[in-house]
Amino acid sequence: MNLLITGGAGFIGSHVVRLFVKAYSDYNIYNLDKLSYAGNLENIKDIEKAKNYTFIKGDITDKAFLTEIFRKYNFDAIIHLAAESHVDRSIENPLAFVETNIIGTINLLEQCRKNWNNDRKKHLFYHISTDEVYGSLGEKGLFEETTSYKPNSPYSASKASSDHFVRAYGETYKIPYIITNCSNNYGANQFPEKLIPLFINNIINNKSLPVYGDGKYTRDWLYVEDHARAIDIVFHNGKNKETYNIGGFNEWQNIALIKLLCKLMDQKLGRNEGTSSQLITYITDRPGHDRRYAIDANKIYSELGWKPSVTFEDGLSKTIDWYLDNQEWLVNITSGAYKEYYNKMYLKK
Ligand code: NAD
Ligand code: TYD
Repeated sequence: MNLLITGGAGFIGSHVVRLFVKAYSDYNIYNLDKLSYAGNLENIKDIEKAKNYTFIKGDITDKAFLTEIFRKYNFDAIIHLAAESHVDRSIENPLAFVETNIIGTINLLEQCRKNWNNDRKKHLFYHISTDEVYGSLGEKGLFEETTSYKPNSPYSASKASSDHFVRAYGETYKIPYIITNCSNNYGANQFPEKLIPLFINNIINNKSLPVYGDGKYTRDWLYVEDHARAIDIVFHNGKNKETYNIGGFNEWQNIALIKLLCKLMDQKLGRNEGTSSQLITYITDRPGHDRRYAIDANKIYSELGWKPSVTFEDGLSKTIDWYLDNQEWLVNITSGAYKEYYNKMYLKK
């Protein structure tokens, strides 16, 4: 099997690439990534010399380049993770999200249309999506696979659009496909612009913790390695044309999560309890901020036998340990362009 994984130098992609390279020595695994600000080869340095692994630097918005690599490597299946992934950046620059998330996905689908027959045993376009396509929940209820799409940010609208194109290519051109919609991930190697790594980094550096609005927004958190395991199971056992929601029934209001994080950080840094929480600063809310996400993951539990293996307390503790042990990684990627972004986003408020 010639398996193309896109976005494998990013946060989730790096965990997926590692899992597949280690578990499937008989597959040829190709990692295609343009190495944007969020992509970092450091994330997968431990497997870069594996015999079944090849890194390809390139951009999914470049059609000629995709034609060339499909000809050269004859990919049988694709796990598509490459994307612009941060809501706040999508509010600043929506077109970048249209280009990579929508056009880039269509470019890959076009290659499948030209190069594949319709045999699910041989081919699969596996599209990694998000629960954010469903929009926002009220105080009760969960996102099911049948919940209608109602995206509220340019990021979620671009992901929703790409999901629709995957489905349309499946129906129209019979390309075998699966879509999974996962809740918020956390763990090692996440770029420190997302809530958990940003706040860990700021606590280390005694910087303020910018909480949007009243802090009572709710997210459903899943440890990234559990997501990677789910992707493995879906890739091998999922049914053509199906969608599966992935989540761990683990809802947290932002402020409760932030207080837990502060408490754990105080313990690990040997600071007095209550030190880090003094850094909490409420700031102007994110525009279009979705109030609550929560996933009903019963379909993947019952049909494919996946369930999370890491509790939130353990996962968060392991995540903090990883960032404390890898401060050089943090320093390297938070210099240069990221500094400009940070100043623009937070120092204006
Ligand atoms: P990330 O931003 O950490 O990584 C994205 C990767 O894609 C980077 O390595 C980047 O270099 C690469 N990339 C970006 N544009 C590209 C392009 N034009 N061509 C080639 N490569 C490109 O993102 P992530 O958090 O790892 O998310 C991966 C996927 O999972 C995304 O599709 C995202 O929508 C989805 N997802 C993320 C979460 C989450 O909580 N992070 C939850 C559910 C779904
Ligand atoms: P984020 O990690 O950006 O993920 P998403 O918006 O895709 O769910 O944000 C998680 C939650 O944390 C979300 O409700 C916004 C909030 N948040 C803050 O309050 N402050 C911040 O600086 C960030 C990045 C997020």
